[in-house]
Amino acid sequence: MKLRINGTEYDVAEEPPRTLLWVLHDELGLIGTKYGCGVGICGICTVQIDGEAVRSCVTPLSKVEGEIRTIEGLATVADDGTRVLHPVQQAFLEDQVPQCGWCMSGQMMAAAAFLEQNPTPSEEEIIDAMNRVYCRCGCYHRIKGAVAKAAEQMAVGEGTAV
Ligand code: FES
Ligand code: FES
Repeated sequence: MKLRINGTEYDVAEEPPRTLLWVLHDELGLIGTKYGCGVGICGICTVQIDGEAVRSCVTPLSKVEGEIRTIEGLATVADDGTRVLHPVQQAFLEDQVPQCGWCMSGQMMAAAAFLEQNPTPSEEEIIDAMNRVYCRCGCYHRIKGAVAKAAEQMAVGEGTAV
């Protein structure tokens, strides 16, 4: 079957049955997507399908339809070839959000999907959305602040070339 991931088409075997996480991580080398609980609770494995946050550890490959975006595809590439961080990435970087970093791709993919749906969230809405992605290091305060900062940056259309 064909999978479209971060703008590139991949051919993957339909059998044996397995979840999207392991196809991304083990077969396609997109190792930014991490394993946490493996049962759909922690959100660490979050990717986007057609802009929706999806837990890849419990998403059967056979059910995948649409454009997949992983953390490797969250930044964009400008016409001159420079990479432009997504405002969520830029805010997480500026605010030094990660501790161990294990949950961070899931945090950022969830945050980016959330801000697409709710570009002007209240503090409570940010807490409610981001509470669903667990951070064993307890970085929740910085995550909340960085998501709020990203929302502000997106409102003024900022991006940063790297
Ligand atoms: S690893 Fe997928 S939800 Fe925890
Ligand atoms: S930064 Fe360590 S689990 Fe979140």
